[in-house]
Amino acid sequence: MCVTIVVAAGRGARLGTELPKQYVEIAGEPLIRRTLRAFCSHPDIDGVLPVIHPDDAALFENAAQGLNVMAPVSGGVTRQESVRLGLESLAAMSPQPERVLIHDAARAFVSASLISSVIKALNDHSAAIPGLRVVDTLKRDSGHGTVSETVARKDLWRAQTPQGFRYTDILAAHREFMTEALTDDSAIAERAGLAVALVEGEEDNVKITTPADLDAAQQKMARGESRTGFGFDVHRFCAGETVTLCGVAIPHTHALEGHSDADVALHALTDALLGGMAAGDIGSHFPPSEAQWRGAESEIFLRHVADILASKGGRIVNLDVTIICEIPKIGPHRTAMVECLAEILGITTDRINVKATTTERLGFTGRGEGIAAQAVATIILPQ
Ligand code: CTP
Ligand code: MG
Repeated sequence: MCVTIVVAAGRGARLGTELPKQYVEIAGEPLIRRTLRAFCSHPDIDGVLPVIHPDDAALFENAAQGLNVMAPVSGGVTRQESVRLGLESLAAMSPQPERVLIHDAARAFVSASLISSVIKALNDHSAAIPGLRVVDTLKRDSGHGTVSETVARKDLWRAQTPQGFRYTDILAAHREFMTEALTDDSAIAERAGLAVALVEGEEDNVKITTPADLDAAQQKMARGESRTGFGFDVHRFCAGETVTLCGVAIPHTHALEGHSDADVALHALTDALLGGMAAGDIGSHFPPSEAQWRGAESEIFLRHVADILASKGGRIVNLDVTIICEIPKIGPHRTAMVECLAEILGITTDRINVKATTTERLGFTGRGEGIAAQAVATIILPQ
């Protein structure tokens, strides 16, 4: 089992924004949400533990809405203390995780492949960190505006996070060296004599620290490319008493035929999102022939596709769903449907529209033989 601790209890003094930097929005979402999503959607991560400042409880709750993260714990005055408090809180977990990754909330552009390479390195090493070789020549400042020496850059790396460890090793090291100020967890592991492997980091995995970093991140996100996807689905009526549409169960004279809840609207929407990503269709991702998907709730498909989008660094601009049927009446349930979709996808309700139409008693929907749904999704994918 591998848990990621995301430290987010800092105040962001160098950035100087009104809100602590992890709650500043980039491309319409708080920085920390992007960070948490990267780990929540990674198949090798079993839990994500946020460490937050006690003053930020409300900010955090808003930022993490709908994400499957553990209950946050309070951090300390230094990053080192925040990490240690996070590690200590995992001691109560049963079973305890074998491995932990420790990551800065401020590194919101961590990629799934970087997470994978740190985890992979832990198969052969007791600890592993990502880093980038220093390419510039390094000078030491004399303190008087002049150079006191040139530092040999050969063998020098810039350390990043996520840094990976065996849980019991890093907890013991943090406890032992808590009175020494060390700036990353690798330094603590090194102090404890653990061998730390270096894996290739990524230039994009910046720690947003200064206003220039935030500007660059905002520009990068603005460079995304807009895509549109379309989805269509039909299910026929069968014997039953409820139909489920956009995740909302509506009492009716019939049910819809299909495995599980046969939520025709969620299926159309899932296909629209896959269409926007040029990623095939619902049947190719969730073949009914595979046991894990047989009878799965449609909501699981939609969540999964939202995770795929997030892992590509993409985001939803807006969604528009049309449900086509004579009965049941959709109007009274529209607000609940929009709220349900917003919760599943972790986006705000002002980006979602659900509407309905009849076909004037014409065709199969007009004859009351089933329900059809169409959906259009506009998304942004990074270029
Ligand atoms: N951090 C933390 N607890 C602290 C200090 C920092 O959890 N007492 C976290 C930050 O929230 C951040 C990460 O550690 O995600 C890296 O720290 P840094 O970039 O220095 O963030 P801040 O301390 O918030 O920024 P600054 O130093 O400019 O105040
Ligand atoms: Mg700091």
